[in-house]
Amino acid sequence: MEIRTDFLVIGSGIAGLSFALNAAKEGSVAIITKKAHSECNTNYAQGGIATVISPDDSFDLHIQDTLTAGAGLCHLDSVELIVREGPRMVKNLMRLGVEFTKKPEGALSLGREGGHSKNRIVHAADLTGHEIEHVLGENVQANDRIAVYENHIAIDLITEHHLLRIQEEQREHVTCWGAYALDTDTGQVKKFLAKVVLLCTGGAGQVYLHTTNPKIATGDGIAMVYRAGGTVGNLEFMQFHPTSLYHPDGQSFLISEAVRGYGGVLITRKGEPFMERYHEMASLAPRDIVARAIDHEMKRSGDPCVYLDVTKKNPEETRERFPNIFQKCLSLGIDLTQEPIPVVPAAHYMCGGVQTDMWGRTAIQGLYACGEVAFTGVHGANRLASNSLLEALVFSERAYQDAKKTLRENRSSFPDIPEWNEEGTFNTAEWVIMSHDREEIQRLMWDYVGIVRSNFRLRRAQRRIRLLSEEVEAFYRRAKVTNDLIELRNLVAVAELIIRSALMRKESRGLHYTTDYPERDDRRWKRDTTFCKGDRRK
Ligand code: FAD
Ligand code: SIN
Repeated sequence: MEIRTDFLVIGSGIAGLSFALNAAKEGSVAIITKKAHSECNTNYAQGGIATVISPDDSFDLHIQDTLTAGAGLCHLDSVELIVREGPRMVKNLMRLGVEFTKKPEGALSLGREGGHSKNRIVHAADLTGHEIEHVLGENVQANDRIAVYENHIAIDLITEHHLLRIQEEQREHVTCWGAYALDTDTGQVKKFLAKVVLLCTGGAGQVYLHTTNPKIATGDGIAMVYRAGGTVGNLEFMQFHPTSLYHPDGQSFLISEAVRGYGGVLITRKGEPFMERYHEMASLAPRDIVARAIDHEMKRSGDPCVYLDVTKKNPEETRERFPNIFQKCLSLGIDLTQEPIPVVPAAHYMCGGVQTDMWGRTAIQGLYACGEVAFTGVHGANRLASNSLLEALVFSERAYQDAKKTLRENRSSFPDIPEWNEEGTFNTAEWVIMSHDREEIQRLMWDYVGIVRSNFRLRRAQRRIRLLSEEVEAFYRRAKVTNDLIELRNLVAVAELIIRSALMRKESRGLHYTTDYPERDDRRWKRDTTFCKGDRRK
């Protein structure tokens, strides 16, 4: 089955939906998304959007805080862009209907998070992402130029590789014509053809055993682009959020950094605050520093978690400021106004990704990327809290501005693109292999490619992941595609790419800390680690 559209948007988080609303002014839009449209990282965002609104704040301060957190690798032009566009983006969202929390006198309430020198986080209580996703979703649904295909998972981008007559070595440029996607309700693989393709498949937290990300965050976009010959970069910079809830029934639930911004203090099991020993900003130091400090404290004490204490704050105010976190903890028997919350670090945000320019363009013609899947240079070696929703909004608008020109100039016709070929594949009964392999990847990555790394651990992980990768690829070639198999193939690919990037960087910087090269080395390593398929650099 073939579906033709002007714009194909892969992913329905903040990046995909905001792009779609703009693109619909120019032409027809098809959004494919692998589950219900709201099942995405955006929906779980708690803290909010960093932006300069307060009179005692300035663009320069926000830029400086971003650069400091990014440990020397942020691209200044991208940082300046998102910071200066921030207030306009927030106004746009409000115009669409997003309701942010206001102070009694009517001004926007501004929260504080780690690494920020000012209160500048615009939020909707502690459910900011849910509010944004809901409002964008309503606007999309009301727009009859946008068709949403839920339960459709993109398998691969359609490029020259799929046009059998063009040999790989003859290619100078790769062009994207659309994507093959599996309709998981019917089991049918459909061919989506588009004049412009926007990739906004989000993050890759599921590569790790402990993560704040929902199940959809399997790095599909990074894996698809790499397979198609595009450039990826800075994948060693996986951000670990310092405070995810430590509870057998509350795994992957985030305790927002805004709780520390509000006055929450990190303490040991014995009740001793410890962050002053690691950084002058104590519990509000940048994330890489807090996560490493917690890891160190846990290893030193042998305790399975540390604690976040907000019991000194006014209980009523706390309940009102964090209704979602309060309720979740209470449902697990923790009254956070009376007792400290047990917390551990968890994989949270992929700072690297598919390399793009300032207009969201990738190395593949006709393919744009934005949101968490993209590596725009904003976050450097460590993302400043609450800069990612903002980055997604700014770059999706930039991608739209460029894509509308591409639409007008290019592609009146498509080459002859074959239907999905499933010849020789069969329905297999070996599904247990898939859940086993998924968990094995997640454990390997958590144990060997986590907060503290070493050459020995990285190489050990690399050998094992390569073996898994060969097995998964062989299985993929024989079996009929399913959602789980597509995700597994992408997870193992992204794990391999993260390890490769981590081995390339022979220094410690931001989120990448290795005991073999414990110092930052600006002379040799003040640069990004970018590569593409066929690139032999190690
Ligand atoms: P997502 O919102 O993750 O959307 C990705 C979409 O792609 C989904 O719809 C998914 O189903 C779809 N998809 C993926 N693969 C495929 C495929 N193969 N085929 C079809 N569809 C596919 N950032 C902030 O700035 N402030 C915060 O307060 C904040 N809090 C956070 C709290 C949590 C718990 C988490 C997990 C993240 C938080 N972040 C926050 C980060 C931020 O939420 C994300 O970076 C951002 O929402 C990413 O948006 P996105 O549109 O790029 O991706
Ligand atoms: C949080 O609320 O702590 C998450 C903020 C972010 O990841 O930007």
